[in-house]
Amino acid sequence: MAIGYLSAVVVLTLLVIPDHCHAKDILTAGDSLPDGQTLISAGETFELGFFSPGRSTNRYVGIWYYNFSTRTVLWVANRQDPVRDESGRLGIADDGNLVVLDGNQNVLWSTGLPPLSSNSSSTTTVQLLENGNLMVNDSGGVARWESFENPTDTYLPGMRIGLDLRTNVNQLLRSWKSEDDPAAGNFSMGVDPRRSTQIFIWEGTGPGVPRWRSGRWNGQVFTGIVDMISTYLYGFRLSDFLQEQKMYFYYNANDSLHRYVLKWNGTVEHLIRQDDTGVWSRYWEAPTTECETYNKCGRYGSCSDENTPICSCLRGFVPAVAEEWKRGNWSSGCVRRRALLCESDGSGNQGEDDGFWKIERVKLPDSSDWDNNANDEDGCRTACSRNCSCRAFAYVDGIGCLAWGVDLVDIQIFSSGGNNMYLRLASSELDRTAKEQNKRSRPAATATVPFDLGNDDGNRKQQVTRSFHILDESKDKQCEELPVLSFESIITSTSNFSKANLLGVGGFGPVYKGILPGGQEVAVKRLSRNSGQGHDEFKNEIILIAQLQHRNLVRILGCCIQGEEKILVYEYMPNRSLDVILFDPKRKRLLDWNSRYNIIEGVARGLLYLHRDSRLRIIHRDLKASNILLDSEMSPKISDFGMARMFGTDEKETNTQRVVGTFGYMSPEYAMQGVFSVKSDVYSFGVLLLEIICGMKNSSFMHQKSSLNLLGYAWKSWNEDNVMEFVDPTIRDSCSLTQVSKCVNVGLLCVQDRANDRPTMSSVMVMLEGGAAAISQPRRPTFVADIGGDTESSTDKLIGISSNNSITQLIGR
Ligand SMILES: *[C@@H]1O[C@H](CO)[C@@H](O)[C@H](O)[C@H]1NC(C)=O
Ligand SMILES: *[C@@H]1O[C@H](CO)[C@@H](O)[C@H](O)[C@H]1NC(C)=O
Ligand SMILES: *[C@@H]1O[C@H](CO)[C@@H](O)[C@H](O)[C@H]1NC(C)=O
Ligand SMILES: *[C@@H]1O[C@H](CO)[C@@H](O)[C@H](O)[C@H]1NC(C)=O
Ligand SMILES: *[C@@H]1O[C@H](CO)[C@@H](O)[C@H](O)[C@H]1NC(C)=O
Ligand SMILES: *[C@@H]1O[C@H](CO)[C@@H](O)[C@H](O)[C@H]1NC(C)=O
Ligand SMILES: *[C@@H]1O[C@H](CO)[C@@H](O)[C@H](O)[C@H]1NC(C)=O
Ligand SMILES: *[C@@H]1O[C@H](CO)[C@@H](O)[C@H](O)[C@H]1NC(C)=O
Ligand SMILES: *[C@@H]1O[C@H](CO)[C@@H](O)[C@H](O)[C@H]1NC(C)=O
Ligand SMILES: *[C@@H]1O[C@H](CO)[C@@H](O)[C@H](O)[C@H]1NC(C)=O
Ligand SMILES: *[C@@H]1O[C@H](CO)[C@@H](O)[C@H](O)[C@H]1NC(C)=O
Ligand SMILES: *[C@@H]1O[C@H](CO)[C@@H](O)[C@H](O)[C@H]1NC(C)=O
Repeated sequence: MAIGYLSAVVVLTLLVIPDHCHAKDILTAGDSLPDGQTLISAGETFELGFFSPGRSTNRYVGIWYYNFSTRTVLWVANRQDPVRDESGRLGIADDGNLVVLDGNQNVLWSTGLPPLSSNSSSTTTVQLLENGNLMVNDSGGVARWESFENPTDTYLPGMRIGLDLRTNVNQLLRSWKSEDDPAAGNFSMGVDPRRSTQIFIWEGTGPGVPRWRSGRWNGQVFTGIVDMISTYLYGFRLSDFLQEQKMYFYYNANDSLHRYVLKWNGTVEHLIRQDDTGVWSRYWEAPTTECETYNKCGRYGSCSDENTPICSCLRGFVPAVAEEWKRGNWSSGCVRRRALLCESDGSGNQGEDDGFWKIERVKLPDSSDWDNNANDEDGCRTACSRNCSCRAFAYVDGIGCLAWGVDLVDIQIFSSGGNNMYLRLASSELDRTAKEQNKRSRPAATATVPFDLGNDDGNRKQQVTRSFHILDESKDKQCEELPVLSFESIITSTSNFSKANLLGVGGFGPVYKGILPGGQEVAVKRLSRNSGQGHDEFKNEIILIAQLQHRNLVRILGCCIQGEEKILVYEYMPNRSLDVILFDPKRKRLLDWNSRYNIIEGVARGLLYLHRDSRLRIIHRDLKASNILLDSEMSPKISDFGMARMFGTDEKETNTQRVVGTFGYMSPEYAMQGVFSVKSDVYSFGVLLLEIICGMKNSSFMHQKSSLNLLGYAWKSWNEDNVMEFVDPTIRDSCSLTQVSKCVNVGLLCVQDRANDRPTMSSVMVMLEGGAAAISQPRRPTFVADIGGDTESSTDKLIGISSNNSITQLIGR
C-alpha cells in the first residue's frame, strides 16, 4: 500500500462519535472510530471495530459477527500492520480513503483509492452492510471500494471474487499466519488462473505450489470433491464469465449463517451456524485425507485412501524409481511399461493398435484440455485416438470431452462417485474386453456386439443404440428422452410376461424381471391399462427420470409403447424393495443397524438430490418403503416417479386437484388440503426413517401395550429418554445409541405437523452427518394420538382409513 504518499494527504478531523450513537453502521467524513467503539450493521448481524486475535495484544480493525459469545473474525483491515496499543483509530482521510491510524497519526492501512479532489471527503461515507460488506461510497452513494472485493481469509455468501479475464488479476483468499496473527500466512486459495473452473489451495505466496484441487466444475458440483452433492448444502454457482469477463464462484444462503474460511494451517472449512442452536458446525473441509493432497502419488500414480499403501501406479505403468517407491517416497511417480505403438518409430512393428483402458471412480487428473468438437464419448474417444499425444480422455456430463496432452497428475480413485477415465495404453496392456470396446467404437467396425447397458454413467442412449436389434426407432414422441425398445424384445426378455418372472405388483401394474439379449438383467414395469397411471403420469415419469442421475435413484434404461401397452425398463435390483425385507419377521434381521443407517443416509441423499441438486428440482410425492429398491450391496435407490412433480426454484408450494400418495406417509397439509411442497416429502422421509428404525410399518403398527401408532410410539420413547425401546428388537445389539437417538430425533423433526417446522433435506443431511449437538427439539406431532382417541376433528378423517395399500386417489379440496 502506498502509505508514503497517503500520510502526506491525511489531515484528519478527529471527531469522536458521541456515545449515544454507538449502534450506528455509517461513518461519514469527519467521524472517526476510536479503538473501543464499533459500527454495527443495521440488522445487528455484523460488527466492525478494533480487536486482538488469540493471545496477541496487537490491535487490528476487523469485522465479526455481532453478539456471539466467541468472536469470529471475518475480515481484517490492517492485517500486516497492527496498532501496538489502544490508541488506534479508523477514519476517512481528506482524500476519501478509509484509513487505520495509530496514536501518532501514522497511516497503517488504507483503502488505497486514488485521491479525490481535496474537498470530497466531506461526502465520502463508509457503511457496514447487513451482509458483512464494508462499503466506501462516494458522494453519489456509488461504491468505490468494498471489503467483499478485498477479502482476507473468509468467503461469505454474496462475495464474488475471482479471476478477471481481461487483466488476469486473480483475487485470492489468504490464510492468517496463525491463530494469533492475521498477517498473510502460507496459504492462498482461489480460481485456477489457467481458467479451468477449478478451485485451488496453494502453498506459498499465491498462486504457489498446489496443495489441493477441487476438480472441474460440471455445472452443479466440483467433480473432484467426492460426494459433493450430499455434502454441499448451499450450491455454488459459476459466474457467467463470458458475459462478465470474470470467473468466480458464488453462493447465497440466508436460512443460517455460512462461511468458508481458509485456516492458517492450509485447510478450507465450510461452517454453518443454525439460527436455533447458536453453534457453528463444521460441515465440510479439505484437504482431509492424504489422497486429497495435490498429486500425492506423482504422475501416473493413483491415490486411494482405502488402500495400503495408498499409492499405486496406473495400469500399464511402473514406479519411476522402484527403490524410492517401495520406501513410500511417491514423488517421482510412475512411467509407462510398454511404449505406445503410435509413439514407436514404425521400424517393422506390426503390433495391434493402442487402445484405451477404462478406469472408474476417478478424480480426473489436473491440466485437461477441453475439446468442444466431440459431443459424446465416442466422439471424444475418436478425437483422442487420432492424436498420439493424447494420453487419456474422459467424457463428463455437464462439461463434455476432456483430453490430456500432458502427463497425468493428481489422480485419486474414490470409493464411490468420480468419473470414468480412459487411459491410452499399448495393446498388450489391454485385456480382451477392453480391446473389444476399442474396436467397437472404431468408426469402421460394424461387428454386432453383445447388449451392454453397463454401469457406465455415460450417455445411455448411446449405449443402447449400440445394441442394434432391440431398438425400435419408430416415431413415438413420448419416449423422446429415452432409448426405445421394441415390444417383441420385451416379450422375449420376460418370457411373455410369465408368472415366473413376476417380481411384484406396484401401484400402476406388475413388474417383471427381464433378461435382455446380451444377458443384462432388467426390471420391466408393465403399466396395466386400468392402473390409474394414465398417459400423464407415464409421460411424467419418463421425462423426469430420464434426466436424473444419482446413485440413490433408480435408473431407467428404456421405454416401449405399443398400442395400449406402456412399458418402462429399469435397472434390476436383486434385493427388491425395502419393505420386502424390513417388514418380514424372518428376513428383517438381515438388515443390521449399519445397513439400516446406510439406507437412511442413501435415501436422504437421493431426496436431497431431487429437491435441490438436480437441475429439475423435484418433489417425489410417494416416498415409502416399497419405493425404495436395494441393489446387490443393499444401497437404496428411490424409485417410482410416476407422481413426482417439478417445482420452480422460487415456487414454494403447489396446490393440487388430485391428492395422490400413500396413507401413512402423507403429510397432514397434503392429505387434508392438497398442498404439497418439498416438506411433504420430508414428512414421508420421517415416517420411513422411523419405520426403518423400528422395523414396523406405520400402517400396520399397533403397539401391544398402548394403542399408540408409530409416530406416537417414537415420540413417547424419545421423550422418555428410552429410544432403545423403539428400536427393532432384532437389531438392538448391533446399533449405536448415539446414532439411533440422532435418527429418531431427526425423524420426529421431519414429521412435525407444521411444514415450516420441518427441516429441509439439506438440514437433515447436516444433522445426520454432523454432531448431535446441532439438532433441535421436535414438536409433538398430532398423529401421536391413540387410535380412536379424541384428537382434533381435522385429523379424525385420516385415522381409521385403511392404509393397507398404496397409491390411492381422492379428490382434494
Ligand atoms: C445478545 O445475545 C444474548 C444471548 O446470547 C441475548 O440475550 C441478547 O438479547 C443479545 N443482544 C442483542 C442486542 O441482540
Ligand atoms: C468542492 O468540490 C466541488 C466539485 O467536486 C467543487 O465544485 C467545489 O468548488 C469544491 N469546493 C472547494 C471549497 O474546494
Ligand atoms: C453504499 O453503496 C451500497 C452499494 O451501492 C449501498 O447498498 C449502500 O446503501 C450505500 N451506503 C451509503 C451510505 O451510501
Ligand atoms: C432470504 O430471506 C428473505 C427474508 O427472510 C426471503 O424473502 C428471501 O426469499 C430469502 N432468499 C433466499 C434466496 O432464500
Ligand atoms: C509457513 O512457512 C514457513 C516457512 O516455510 C514455516 O516455517 C512455517 O512453519 C509455515 N507455517 C505454517 C502454519 O505452515
Ligand atoms: C487444520 O485445523 C483444523 C481445525 O482448526 C483441523 O480440522 C485440520 O485437520 C487442520 N489441518 C491440518 C492439515 O492440520
Ligand atoms: C524421493 O525420491 C527422489 C528421487 O526419486 C529423490 O530425489 C528424493 O530425495 C526422495 N525424497 C526423499 C524424502 O527421500
Ligand atoms: C495433439 O495434442 C496436442 C496436445 O494436446 C496438441 O498440442 C496438438 O496440437 C494436437 N495435434 C493435433 C494434430 O491435433
Ligand atoms: C403372449 O401371451 C399372450 C397371452 O398370455 C398370448 O396371447 C400371446 O400370443 C403370447 N405371445 C407370444 C409371442 O408368445
Ligand atoms: C442382496 O443381493 C445379493 C446379490 O444378489 C445377495 O448376495 C444378498 O444375499 C442379498 N441380500 C439380501 C439381504 O437378500
Ligand atoms: C400411521 O398409521 C396410523 C394407523 O395405524 C394412522 O392413523 C396414521 O395416520 C398413519 N400415519 C402416520 C403419519 O402416523
Ligand atoms: C393388505 O395387505 C395384505 C398383505 O400385504 C394382503 O394380503 C391383503 O389382501 C391386503 N388387503 C387389501 C384390502 O388390500
